[in-house]
Amino acid sequence: MILVLDEGTSSTRALLFDETGNIHHVAQADIESRYPRPGWVEQDPRDLWRQSRNVMREAIDAAGGAAKITTIGITNQRETLIAWDRDSGAALAPAIVWQDRRTAAACADLREAGHEAAVQHRTGLLLDPYFSASKMRWMLDHHEEVAAAAQRGSLAFGTVESWLITKLAGAHVTDASNASRTALMDLEKASWDSDMCDLFGVPEEALPAIVPTAGKLAETDMFGASIPITGSAGDQQAATIGQGCLEPGAAKATLGTGLFALTSTGTDVPKSEHRLLATLLSDVHGERLYALEGAVFVAGSLVKWLRDMAGLVGSASETETLARSVEDNGGVTIIPAFNGLGAPHWRPDLTGSIQGLTFGVTRAHLVRAALEAVTMSCVDLAGAFAADGAQWERLRIDGGMVANDWLAQDLADQLDLTIERPTNVESTARGGAILAAVGAGIHADLEAATSAMLPPLERFDPAIASDVRGARAKQWKSALEQALR
Ligand code: G3P
Repeated sequence: MILVLDEGTSSTRALLFDETGNIHHVAQADIESRYPRPGWVEQDPRDLWRQSRNVMREAIDAAGGAAKITTIGITNQRETLIAWDRDSGAALAPAIVWQDRRTAAACADLREAGHEAAVQHRTGLLLDPYFSASKMRWMLDHHEEVAAAAQRGSLAFGTVESWLITKLAGAHVTDASNASRTALMDLEKASWDSDMCDLFGVPEEALPAIVPTAGKLAETDMFGASIPITGSAGDQQAATIGQGCLEPGAAKATLGTGLFALTSTGTDVPKSEHRLLATLLSDVHGERLYALEGAVFVAGSLVKWLRDMAGLVGSASETETLARSVEDNGGVTIIPAFNGLGAPHWRPDLTGSIQGLTFGVTRAHLVRAALEAVTMSCVDLAGAFAADGAQWERLRIDGGMVANDWLAQDLADQLDLTIERPTNVESTARGGAILAAVGAGIHADLEAATSAMLPPLERFDPAIASDVRGARAKQWKSALEQALR
């Protein structure tokens, strides 16, 4: 069995895969986020570790013990930053989550000082609080314990997989796909860039060693027998691999907490001219693959907000019934800038808004407008990809939200594109399993592993007239322009 730990923003899960991609067990625990101030999002690093260890234990027990586990693959929410003391192994501050906007002003200062072109050229990223580097500087400036550990030379920074591997195996490493999200990695060389470390004021000695996404990365004996960790990747890169999107031009969109669309560019390092990101997809057997990425911060988190904060639905699945119960959005548009807007607008200063409220608007219209906001964010991304010369020919979707058939059809209709949905949408974990399988030598390479481990696909074809599509696009565009003013 291949054990995959998929540590996401809202939950951590451990899954058992066999070498043909069948899933034998899923253990899951929720991860709590705290919002101490507007725009701030934190998690407890100890909680991330404890819950991850618990679900791994449950899955290992279900497999019949550690001796039944050939290898471990890890995949994780990216950019989220953790600081710990190398000597004691103790976390020094709350984790600053990728959604956190507290460093927006610091990033704006760097942009105004003219540094964005150099950051993009070197790292593939833009100056936005989303990425880890500005979070590192913030921790050094605002947490005495972090600054003191830096003084002593025992400070360790890492993204979530780095923290989990440290806890599991005592190694301070990060895989190249996660490192490519910090704004400190030279994208072409897959090594830390000292100019970027200087720009953000990050001591390079606090950073983990960069390792490939597959291979003998570390070994844990935490579960009663020694188990190698042979795969590690950020969750969006893992989902791209788990959807088999390796060939240049192949595209996937994951609708999880946020919406992340990636298009493989093969071994070419992409350069975006339309505010998309360049990211490292995989580093396997000495070959690096890259991708162009559009990161939209809100997708499933909007449904969660409808359920937990606004109280408009009792469950996520109710959104599908409500969306189908009305003919259209009733004139309502939701601009989902709850934590700013990501690609292709990059406006960390914005907040969300609802436009078009009249007395005829019902709960169903609001819910439908929320789902449409996710679709239309994806349409905006499609435009940016096309402008960058990477037009989608078809799009594979996955993530918790795509169980919603109405949404899958809406994406096909509004993108005017065939949408492919795997019959099993655990693409992120599957990507982790594929990397671990290749790293352990179970399959020879990514091509062999994807052809052995991918599930069949279902299709959704566009089925609306172009004037209906045009009317929706017009309504969205006008609401968006108003929000961006
Ligand atoms: O970049 C953030 C991303 O990795 C979060 O993924 O699955 O938690 O929405 P998810």
